[in-house]
Parts: sequence; C-alpha cells; structure tokens
Amino acid sequence: MEYTEEIARAYAEEKNHLGFMIRRDLPGILAKYVRAGARALDYGCGAGLMIPLLKDAGFDVEGMDISDSMLHQAVKDHQNTVFTRIHSAAIPRPDASYDLVMLSYVLVEIASLSEMEAVIREVKRVLKPSGVAIVIVSSEQKFQGNWLMINNDFPQNRELASGCRVKCSVADSGVVFEDFFWTDEDYRSVFSLSNLNLLACSQPLGTADDGMPWKDELHSPLFSIYILGHCCPD
Ligand SMILES: C[S@@+](CC[C@H](N)C(=O)[O-])C[C@H]1O[C@@H](n2cnc3c(N)ncnc32)[C@H](O)[C@@H]1O
Repeated sequence: MEYTEEIARAYAEEKNHLGFMIRRDLPGILAKYVRAGARALDYGCGAGLMIPLLKDAGFDVEGMDISDSMLHQAVKDHQNTVFTRIHSAAIPRPDASYDLVMLSYVLVEIASLSEMEAVIREVKRVLKPSGVAIVIVSSEQKFQGNWLMINNDFPQNRELASGCRVKCSVADSGVVFEDFFWTDEDYRSVFSLSNLNLLACSQPLGTADDGMPWKDELHSPLFSIYILGHCCPD
C-alpha cells in the first residue's frame, strides 16, 4: 500500500486500529515468550504505534520501514527511538541481533509468497538463537462478517482467494487499508519454507469481560498472532 504523508498522519491519529484485543493480549504473549529488557525490532513499524506498547513491556526497541512517509510520522511522534529506512527483506544489522522481531500487519501488505519468504528468512537471520518473531496478520474471516471494529463492505472482498486484493476501514474512521488476502495455510507454508518453527498461534476473541459491544468478534477472530522461533514448540 502506498502511504502519503496525509495517510501516515491519519494512520497515526487512528489509535484504535491496533485493536482492543491486541492491546489486551500482546503484553501477556510477550511476557511468556520473550525476555523483558531485551532488544527488539519493530519491522514495518509504520508510524510507530507499536513502539509505546513494546517500551512499556520493557523492550529496547528500534523501528524499520520501507515507507518514508510512515517513518517521518514515526520520528515526529516517538522521540528517543531509532528509526531506519530499509528495502524489503534487507535488515541492515548483523546476524543474531534481536531477542524479538515484531511484524504487525506487515505481511498482509506483501504481494507474493516468495517476497514474504525472503522477509521471514531475513527475520530469522537477525534473531538470536533464543529469540522469537511475533507476526500479526488479518484472519481469513476478517473480510467477511459483521464487526464492531472493522467495516469490510467493499466489492473487493466478495470473492476471496490467496493473493487477491482486499479492503477494509476502521469503523467510524476514514482510515482505509488495502491489503492482500492470504490464508492461514499460506502463512504457515512461508514459515515452514523459511525454517522458522511455529511455536504457537493465537486468534483472540472478544469476551463479555471486555465491556465492548462486540459483534462477530465474540465468536470469530479478526486477526492471527503467530509466534515463531528457532527452537521447538513446548
Ligand atoms: C499496516 S502498516 C502497520 C504498521 C505498524 N506495524 C502497526 O502495526 O501500526 C504496514 C507497514 O508495513 C510497511 N511495509 C510493507 N511492506 C514492507 C516490507 N516488505 N518491509 C518492511 N516494511 C514493509 C509499510 O510501509 C507500513 O508502514
């Protein structure tokens, strides 16, 4: 997706897009799988919305992205954080640099499984032996269904197949996302070809305790969180 300065600003101001359930569940996942105080890379950091959550969880985090506009916004909003402009699948750091690499809604913007594989292979290279990568992507269900958080009523979403274009907007906001549709099987095949092990996969749901007037969020996942590492699952 092409990010202009205007879109990057709107994206940064739309605080809800990361999603209630990500803010609810991610700190627990980080605490379970990664050493706190560890070195983290927010790959495809965009406007840096994930940076405060990672800093609050105790990480020494830097951001990288291919979009100048997103990085301008990130630099403006998040002082004392290093941001670097990169090219896809090239992380300008030595092998085994990070305890955590976060990819939040990055793979959904990649147009081919071969490019996705190149990105994950590069992530694997910069992960320490005990490090983990956390990959957040849209679920297969997101582009059909009736959600509190997401408006998906766009013609692109009527017939879904791997690699086709999809569109959605954050409810009650002008922020529109134009992504690629990939299945759970697609993502798992990329992880497997990249020789990173899938340690766990979480598909959070809304619960009555959230105090939110959830719709399909109560029984269907909006997104998937894959936890990848060099080691084997428990
Ligand atoms: C939907 S935004 C998500 C931003 C941020 N991770 C977040 O959760 O708020 C996707 C970001 O991924 C970046 N991106 C897309 N393809 C990329 C690639 N191949 N390598 C690095 N960044 C990429 C885009 O420029 C954009 O900033």
